[in-house]
Amino acid sequence: MSAQIIDGKAVAASVRGDVAKKVAELKTKGITPCLAVILVGENPASVSYVTGKQKALAEVGMADRSLHLPENTSEEELLKIIDDLNKDDSVHGILVQLPLPKHIDEDKVIMAIRPEKDVDGFHPVNVGNMMIGRPAFLPCTPHGIIKLLETTGIETSGKHAVVIGRSNIVGKPVSILLARRETNCTVTICHTGTKNMAEITRQADILVVASGHPHTLTGDMVKDGAVIIDVGVNRIPDSSKKSGFRLIGDCDFDDLVEKASFITPVPGGVGPMTIAMLMFNTLESAERTLK
Ligand code: GUN
Repeated sequence: MSAQIIDGKAVAASVRGDVAKKVAELKTKGITPCLAVILVGENPASVSYVTGKQKALAEVGMADRSLHLPENTSEEELLKIIDDLNKDDSVHGILVQLPLPKHIDEDKVIMAIRPEKDVDGFHPVNVGNMMIGRPAFLPCTPHGIIKLLETTGIETSGKHAVVIGRSNIVGKPVSILLARRETNCTVTICHTGTKNMAEITRQADILVVASGHPHTLTGDMVKDGAVIIDVGVNRIPDSSKKSGFRLIGDCDFDDLVEKASFITPVPGGVGPMTIAMLMFNTLESAERTLK
């Protein structure tokens, strides 16, 4: 059997198309949704992600108030910029690209963003509201994964979902969303402290792999027909590419594609969905100002 490849690029384009229509409607009411993406420093992966976000903003017709700050920006300067954006009614979303340089306290920065503008869904108020099922900005990557499963028509109710990774950005929140009544999975979280991981992953109907390491999930670790969502983005040297690298996920795609029923590619799977859901959240934030 060969798996069906889940086309995240196409699903993301369709989400952006829906967002673009609603942006056009809002503009007729005098509101232009606006996002400020703040990048500190020159981390090449972050620069690339932020470029993708800015491209999407232009495509859906939103205003872009992004800032690229030097590596040596102080925590105090960054907090002042966030405070100004918090107070600016024309800005509906604020996103600070992570990771930040070591001299800046990420927690402090996340907490400084007004929860009403926290379109990343990282502020404890949004995390808490998500946890108890109240309205909240859902974090973009986990939300994108749920949307991909839904759009692809994958049955989730009663299925055993195994999540590899317990980060605040992906592993923890996606586990909560998978276990919600609407999705209705039984969820197991694996992490670096997990013993006999393969025994657990072989029981999975759905696997979400967000370990941050290539080759985390191999063909022998899954049962036939499993659904594989690969969240990893790893740069590995490749002299045949102009950039000198290519992207691979956390899963051994070539192995797994023979066993799975559905699998996301890297690139072109989860990545584009993250950006699409960011546009969705920014639109929602702007729409709230009407209410
Ligand atoms: N770094 C990696 N993923 C993300 C994300 O979703 N949001 C932010 N702000 N930083 C990230």
